[in-house]
Amino acid sequence: MNYQKKYEEYRIFAEEVLRSALEDMHCHTEILQESIGYSLTAGGKRIRPVLFFAMLEAFGMDYRKERAIPVAIECIHTYSLIHDDLPAMDDDDFRRGKPSNHKVFGEAHAILAGDGLLSYAFELLIKESFRGKQYLTAAQTLAVAAGVHGMVAGQSADLLYSGRPLGEVGEAELLLIRSHKTAELLAAPLVMAANLAGRWETEARDFGMALGHLFQTTDDILDEIGDAAKVGKTLGKDRAEGKLTCVGLYGLDGAKRLADRYAASCNEVLDRLSGQNIETEFLRLLVEGVRNRKQ
Ligand code: IPE
Ligand code: IPE
Ligand code: MG
Ligand code: MG
Ligand code: MG
Repeated sequence: MNYQKKYEEYRIFAEEVLRSALEDMHCHTEILQESIGYSLTAGGKRIRPVLFFAMLEAFGMDYRKERAIPVAIECIHTYSLIHDDLPAMDDDDFRRGKPSNHKVFGEAHAILAGDGLLSYAFELLIKESFRGKQYLTAAQTLAVAAGVHGMVAGQSADLLYSGRPLGEVGEAELLLIRSHKTAELLAAPLVMAANLAGRWETEARDFGMALGHLFQTTDDILDEIGDAAKVGKTLGKDRAEGKLTCVGLYGLDGAKRLADRYAASCNEVLDRLSGQNIETEFLRLLVEGVRNRKQ
């Protein structure tokens, strides 16, 4: 399999569904439409929609029939990035290689763009439920992953444990932060694909959570030693802000070893799926891609 080519196929379809969702959005003020459009079309890896499409194909389903779920997941993710960059949170000026949303539209419209994207995600999923109640199950999966049991909880823990000396905070707090702020939202598209298939939810979740931990581990590594032009964000921020990260806790080599362990956990779950005759080649290559990513 040509991994890059397949990833591009999924990514391009994600861009297409996002563009058409934006055209249908019709915000009542121009500034809100522009603020949302600015961040939603700013590129990014689109790994969450790609995971959703890849999992559907692995389950033998036609991913091109599903437009609402990939848009919803990317709306939630984009909202999380806009709010993450706000001065009250990480205070970051760059995102996806461009000035952060609040640098262009101001804090008020960055907050509102995030709020709008959050609600729009669920508007889309609830509308889609005319096709069957599995779309309501998918909406619930996304709500749990995004909110007080998921990303929002992780962001709260991330802020709460910033700037504390190691010893006072450690591995337990690190796990609490990253499983919620990142892993839940990375697992969600995989579980939503399983929701549509009506089975394999446990394997999808186990794989997604391990992949989410791997993803945040490599995000922390890139913040320390990445190339800013490739990553598209200001680097060195975690150290400057005293964030509790795996690099801070275990050092760079320790973080790399941890990434290897999470990659191995991902592959163990894929072995379970292969054992049920599910084609896992793309997902295996994606694990390798996340382990070695430069952006
Ligand atoms: C960044 O997510 C935030 C984290 C969870 C680490 P991505 O690295 O997926 O950001 P984009 O979508 O590619 O910009
Ligand atoms: C944020 O983690 C995860 C989100 C919920 C957005 P980071 O704060 O490490 O993400 P980046 O490095 O700014 O993308
Ligand atoms: Mg953050
Ligand atoms: Mg941040
Ligand atoms: Mg980071």
